[in-house]
Amino acid sequence: MINKGIILAGGTGTRMSPLTKAVNKQLLPIYDKPLIYYPLSILMLSGIKDILIIVNKGQLSQFKKILPNGNNLGIKITYVEQKYPKGLPDAFILGKKFVGKSNVALILGDNFFYGQSLTKKLKECVRLNKGASVILHPVSNPSSYGVATINKKNKITKIIEKPKKSFSNLAVTGLYFFDNDVIKYSENLKPSKRKEIEIVDLLNKYRKKNKLSAHFLGRGGAWLDTGSIKDFYSTSAFVSTLEKRQGLKIACLEEIALNNKWINKYNIMNAMKFYGKCSYSQYLSTFIRRK
Ligand code: G1P
Repeated sequence: MINKGIILAGGTGTRMSPLTKAVNKQLLPIYDKPLIYYPLSILMLSGIKDILIIVNKGQLSQFKKILPNGNNLGIKITYVEQKYPKGLPDAFILGKKFVGKSNVALILGDNFFYGQSLTKKLKECVRLNKGASVILHPVSNPSSYGVATINKKNKITKIIEKPKKSFSNLAVTGLYFFDNDVIKYSENLKPSKRKEIEIVDLLNKYRKKNKLSAHFLGRGGAWLDTGSIKDFYSTSAFVSTLEKRQGLKIACLEEIALNNKWINKYNIMNAMKFYGKCSYSQYLSTFIRRK
């Protein structure tokens, strides 16, 4: 069972400069809330309450303004600063103390997931006891991602980072589930040509032991990119279209916490005070009336 999660929200966000010169990418808006709300909502929907957020050196105070310690959401948020990006598995080296003897989920701070039965799927993923698993999703541009093939038992048979020649349309999304060996494996990784330790090398350690399995969001699920400014706007448009039509918010953290019974209506009232007069607070006020 996995009960700890890491959000990797470091990175320099160069592709989105100058927007990211003063503000971390994960604090920029996807429609009506900061990007970080979306990956955090995914961990919360999985039932994970103990969360480590890895941020760039010097940006801790920015994050703490919006997500202090998790008390307001009935969860525990701790932070670690990363001096410079050393590759995704560095999350487990920086988070070694946080992870302790537990199994752990990792979500990249810029990944967006949405879909019918997503919560059910996530709860299946966190049931992991041994090995590792990833979520695969078809994309039209696989060469921009880690790409994998599977066998009949949903075990991963091949996985390559940003392959030049396409051999599968199944991209490896930025949500990973690992047993505790991940710490040891990450510490033993050798830096690649670009002088970073690579997630694909870490995943391959599990694959070679036949311990890497795949989950799927299914056709109705959306996994969207927020890697470039164009992607940021199309993801914002997706959220705005759904939210306007349904009157329901995607990744409203307080709503998820309330549904999970981690907070009560007094916490919601405090959240409304914190956010001030805005449409997000107005949305929160509807729960107090309903409950
Ligand atoms: C990273 C991983 C890649 C994965 C992607 C998901 O790529 O290296 O395997 O498919 O995240 O978002 P990056 O976005 O850092 O290029």
